[in-house]
Amino acid sequence: MASRLNNLAAFHQKLAKANRILAICGAGLSAASGLPTFRGAGGLWRNYEATDLATPEAFAEDPGLVWLFYAYRRHMALQVKPNAGHHALAALAKKNPNFLCLTQNVDNLSPRAGHPPSQLRTLHGSLFTLKCSSRSCNYMEPSNTADPLCPSLAPASVSPPDPSQPAKIPLLDPSHPLPRISPSQLPQCPRCQESGKQSLLRPGVIWFGESLDATMLSEIDAWIDQGGPVDIVLVVGTSSVVYPAAGYAERARTKGVTSVVTVNKEVEKRMWTRQEDLAFQGGAEEWLGKMFEPLIGALPGGGNE
Ligand code: APR
Ligand code: ZN
Repeated sequence: MASRLNNLAAFHQKLAKANRILAICGAGLSAASGLPTFRGAGGLWRNYEATDLATPEAFAEDPGLVWLFYAYRRHMALQVKPNAGHHALAALAKKNPNFLCLTQNVDNLSPRAGHPPSQLRTLHGSLFTLKCSSRSCNYMEPSNTADPLCPSLAPASVSPPDPSQPAKIPLLDPSHPLPRISPSQLPQCPRCQESGKQSLLRPGVIWFGESLDATMLSEIDAWIDQGGPVDIVLVVGTSSVVYPAAGYAERARTKGVTSVVTVNKEVEKRMWTRQEDLAFQGGAEEWLGKMFEPLIGALPGGGNE
C-alpha cells in the first residue's frame, strides 16, 4: 500500500476527481508570515497564556491589558504579508466555486491574499472589527485598521527589531511594567455615548465561552448538507482542539466518502484515521502550492510576495 504520508501523487488523484472541497484552517497557516500560534512555542504573551487573555472575564477585569494584547496582534498582523499557503487557498477558491474555506484566524491574511469573500468564513471574527462590549448594544465597526488604535494603545504599535525575539521590546518584556490604561482611555462605543451611556468597544473576535455567529454557522451547515458528498476536507495548521472548527471534518464525512487531508508541521495519528485520509507533514506555505498545482499552476515567486 502506498504511503498516506506526504504522498502528492495520491492527493493529485483525489483532487482531479473532487468536486466539493472544504478547508478548515488555523494559526499554523499564518505562522510562516510571522504570526505566533496559540499552543506551543509563541503562545505566551509576556507571562500570560494567550488563551487566558481571550475571555470576556479577562476583559471585564482588566480591559487595558486585554486591549494591549489585541492592539499588538493588530499591529503585527498589519506588518506581515499573506504567505504561499494563503495564496494557494485563494487561487483554489477562484478555480473551484465548490470550495469553501473556514478559518479560525482573525488576522485578515486570507482576504488580503484575495480569497473571494463568498468562499471564506472567518469563524472567530476579525482583529479589525470593533464591537460594543455591552450585551444590549449591537454596534459594530468593520475594517478599522488604525494603528495605533488610540493614543493609550500606542505602546503596542512597536515592532520587535527581530521577530524571532519579540521579548526585546518593552511591551513584551515581562520584567518591564505595562502601561496602566484606565477604561476612559480606551475606545468607547459611539452609539452608547449618544444615549448617555458609557460602554467600551472591544475586539470583534470570538472569545472562549462565547458563541459563534449563528447566521454563519447555519450557512456552513447548509453548505455541508447541500449537494453531494464533500470529497476532500483539508485540515490546515490547526491543533483541532477548539470546537466547532474541530468537528467539521467528521461532520462532513456523514455524506459519503470524504478524504480528510491534514497539513501540519506536526502530524499526529489522530488527524488521519481512515484509509482514505492523507497527511502532509511540514509547513502549509510549503505544501499547499504543490498540492493544488495541477489546478492552479505554479504560484508566481512560489507564492511568497
Ligand atoms: N504550517 C502548518 N502547520 C503549522 C505551521 C506551519 N507553518 N506552524 C505550526 N503549525 C501547526 C501546529 O503544529 C499546530 O498544530 O499549527 C497548529 C496551531 O495550533 P493552535 O496554536 O492550537 O492554533 P489553532 O488550532 O488555530 O487554535 C484554534 O484557539 O486560541 C484559540 O481562538 C484561537 O482560533 C484559535 C483557536
Ligand atoms: Zn454600544
